[in-house]
Amino acid sequence: MLINFWYAAAYSEAVTADKPLKVKMLGQHFALYRDSKGVARCVSDICIHRSASLAGGKIKGDCIECPYHGWQFNGDGACTKIPSLGIDGKPPARAKIDAYPVEERYGLVHVFLGDLPAEERPPIMEIPEWDQEGWRCIHLEYDWKTNWERSVEAGLDPAHAEFVHTGMKFAGSDEEYIIPELTVERTEWGAQQSFDIKTIAARGDLEHVKPEAAQVTAFASFHGPTCTETRLTLAPGQIVIQYMFETPIDEFHIKKHLVSARTVNLDPGFDKPTNQMNLFVAEEDRVIIEEVDPAIYPESNTKELLVPADKQIAIYREMIAEWEARGWRIDTRQVAADRGRIGYAIPCPARRTQANWTLDSTPMLPGKE
Ligand code: FES
Ligand SMILES: [Fe+2]
Repeated sequence: MLINFWYAAAYSEAVTADKPLKVKMLGQHFALYRDSKGVARCVSDICIHRSASLAGGKIKGDCIECPYHGWQFNGDGACTKIPSLGIDGKPPARAKIDAYPVEERYGLVHVFLGDLPAEERPPIMEIPEWDQEGWRCIHLEYDWKTNWERSVEAGLDPAHAEFVHTGMKFAGSDEEYIIPELTVERTEWGAQQSFDIKTIAARGDLEHVKPEAAQVTAFASFHGPTCTETRLTLAPGQIVIQYMFETPIDEFHIKKHLVSARTVNLDPGFDKPTNQMNLFVAEEDRVIIEEVDPAIYPESNTKELLVPADKQIAIYREMIAEWEARGWRIDTRQVAADRGRIGYAIPCPARRTQANWTLDSTPMLPGKE
């Protein structure tokens, strides 16, 4: 798992001023809440006093209060109150926890998990259609028991639809099935490809959502290690886009936050069947991906046999290796060995400028730059 990217932590409505929300990302726990101005905040969940879970506490004005001894921390991570020091007691400078930059966009609370200063951070994946007339965007969230890289790769794979997606394609029955030559272009934080596919009409309950077969132009891109866009142009002006914000819970579990945008069937009455269709397609992928073994792809591509249709996947692995070379990959074996013994915090930006932190920073694999 990689630090120094934005990760979708929750839908906006799940983060409230009433009760903190505990979210696990990159193998660590976080507490999310809204301060008195309604601004979403995210701090490391481990209380630096005696390690209680802050998310089990209360929200007091702009602060989160630990349920164990009532220490309060504000959204910048500073401890503002230690009740046992007395009314006039001043928390020591070392009383601070990691606090992370938060941005709300597209109905999602995005958290920057890493220590890069603002000007060096990769951007959040954009959804230009979010507020545009002529588009309808809806949410869907689900979990898979799988590694994040395997999950993202399934979204970048032009050759699997023919065999996996019975609702869209021919499930291996088209003898003339062929993947056209792929052009894959690297972008600053990812890569994109487009290609044509044939699809069949949906059957049964979902027939009214997609009544006819079509020649479809597909576009697939990834943005950073865990965000993807899949765009299907069914006919001129008839476009369906799946923006997927995947968040590794840990190395073997992923939470998927989907923003599904469409120019067809705009009536909200189609939201439910559209998400039924989205889930149906996701389920077809899930049963394959959760059984992939090894769950984490091999360290060398020589241990899997990639072919030209896997071009974007090869580039994805290359870019992951480049980000790892910057020292951004968590040493998950070390973290697993220390589980239950050492409480770590994903390093927040303030660690670049301040010393004297109570918790150790999550161990990283050494960079190569
Ligand atoms: S453990 Fe949090 S205040 Fe004591
Ligand atoms: Fe798929």
